[in-house]
Amino acid sequence: MAYPKLAALSAGMLLAFSAQAAEVEVLHWWTSGGEAKAAGELKKTMEGKGHKWKDFAVAGGGGENAMTALKTRVVSGNPPAAAQIKGPAIQEWGAEGVLASIDDVAKKDKWDTLLPPVVANVMKYKGQYVAAPVNVHRVNWLWVNPTLLKKANAKVPGTIDELFVTMEALKKAGIQPLAYGGQPWQDSTVFESIALGVGGADFYQKAFVKLDQATIKSPTMLKALDTYKKLKPYTDKNAPGREWNLATAMVINGKAAMQFMGDWAKGEFLAAGKVPGKDFLCVAAPGTAKDFTFNIDSFVFFKQPNKDAVKGQQDLATALMSPSFQESFNLNKGSIPARTGLDMSKFDECGKKSSEDFKAAAAGNTLAPSWAHGMAMSSATQGAMFDVISQFWNDDKMTAQQAADKLATAAKTK
Ligand code: GAL
Repeated sequence: MAYPKLAALSAGMLLAFSAQAAEVEVLHWWTSGGEAKAAGELKKTMEGKGHKWKDFAVAGGGGENAMTALKTRVVSGNPPAAAQIKGPAIQEWGAEGVLASIDDVAKKDKWDTLLPPVVANVMKYKGQYVAAPVNVHRVNWLWVNPTLLKKANAKVPGTIDELFVTMEALKKAGIQPLAYGGQPWQDSTVFESIALGVGGADFYQKAFVKLDQATIKSPTMLKALDTYKKLKPYTDKNAPGREWNLATAMVINGKAAMQFMGDWAKGEFLAAGKVPGKDFLCVAAPGTAKDFTFNIDSFVFFKQPNKDAVKGQQDLATALMSPSFQESFNLNKGSIPARTGLDMSKFDECGKKSSEDFKAAAAGNTLAPSWAHGMAMSSATQGAMFDVISQFWNDDKMTAQQAADKLATAAKTK
């Protein structure tokens, strides 16, 4: 029993103890191999500062389950100290009046000078920082098992046409071409990369960022939808419902040749001891070499009832943006640091490529927010669009025209 012991401590000692060591509860959905290692870095950092880490992990790639759990907690007046919330959803939570400002920490540590404005603006609500970014994930990647491609005498595809040639060669050689996880967020993750490859950056911006009705119903969208659906014969019958990391494991274990997925997949390859460039390849999704769909993970802070918890939050915010954390976390997570100007020498070739491509895409105006990962539109609109894409994927009778019309309606969801 802890009570008698605590009672023996003087009030002063208790105060000193509690002022240093807060219990910091953090919600996230990082439960796969690579994700859990990355989250472990955060736990280690906070424990190093003398805080008690309370893990609020809710399994489920893409975070839908985690967001449902979070809503329940906030509604019941008991929010965690911090939660992984991204993109425009930060503004939605801000409007609920439940977020805590961490502007003091941000000012002290000069976050405005350390973050690209495109990132900094998303982290602020009404001009004050309420969130800290931890990384930049690139979504438009294709993960390749080179041994399987070699067996089929197939080429790493650079264009959409080449993709189909490669998948056909793999199929003929009796190799499963695509590792696919049929879940709504994964369907849209794949569709997003195909749409970018088919339509290019301007089309992507008009369709998924501006939500322009004419673009959503355009022939280019129909082509993107048809191309996406043409992938289906190259997936296996167990794809429906499969978690993304199990699909990645198929590529790792030589059960399938390729997977469309963001670079959290790299975390899985690395956690399995695989070496980029040798055991696996990271290449831009076909037709998107010059583009970069970004997905920035960030932690948002909730108002807390006591001072110790606030101190814990401030320490967490400082830690999240520190160079050492941004390095160790991202080395495991598969992403690159959100903070600019960090030394990338410890990163592998995929990380270095991502960092260079991010800068080039920013300079060339081809940076695109990943709509499948909550970077581009409200969560309600995103949810409605997810439904349409998954319905289209699963219903073999639905035409691209019907899907485009439904997408146009979904885009109006407020
Ligand atoms: C993304 C998230 C990544 C990764 C992925 C799969 O939305 O930004 O950090 O965790 O889901 O769970």
